[in-house]
Amino acid sequence: MKIGIVYYSRTGNTRQVAKTLEEKFKEKNAEVDLIEIEHVKRPGFFTAGRASMNQQELSIKNTDFDMQKYDVMIVGTPTWAGRPSPFMKVFINKAENIKGKKVAVFGTGMSPLDKREQFKEIMKNNLENVGIKTVENYLLINFKRGQIVDGEQNIDDFVNTVLKL
Ligand SMILES: Cc1cc2nc3c(=O)[nH]c(=O)nc-3n(C[C@H](O)[C@H](O)[C@H](O)COP(=O)(O)O)c2cc1C
Repeated sequence: MKIGIVYYSRTGNTRQVAKTLEEKFKEKNAEVDLIEIEHVKRPGFFTAGRASMNQQELSIKNTDFDMQKYDVMIVGTPTWAGRPSPFMKVFINKAENIKGKKVAVFGTGMSPLDKREQFKEIMKNNLENVGIKTVENYLLINFKRGQIVDGEQNIDDFVNTVLKL
């Protein structure tokens, strides 16, 4: 199975989870590529929050987002103002050969895991708009000062769900 993990990370937390997932999938003999969505300009706190509230597009450097070779994709993003970072929506709309793929989602944030309903809803809608039905098992991770404080217990279950797709 070939898995593409596409993520955006402004301060490193989401990258950390993406790398943990990469290791776990490799341990299970899956082939994995990590693809980081790169901002043209790192948004400041207020720009990030405002852009997220409006799900407004922010420019990215990546130009090649052909997903053809992946059997499964995993997409991950921080939560900004209760919503996925708009960089993720830019990727979803730019990606080629994504329609009909199996896509699983992970999200990082600093609020309790049961306060992420809006995040899940928007990810689901943004993906449905390009013809993707997401995997129900969303992996949500809660960070405080760069350390995981909740959600780590769900990583193995997420990995196993993806491997069974
Ligand atoms: C502008 C902004 C808004 C944020 N809003 C939320 C929020 O509404 N809920 C939440 O759980 N975390 C929020 N956070 C915290 C980030 O989601 C969290 O620190 C995340 O793990 C950062 O990921 P990164 O290090 O990969 O950029 C916000 C962070 C920023 C910069």
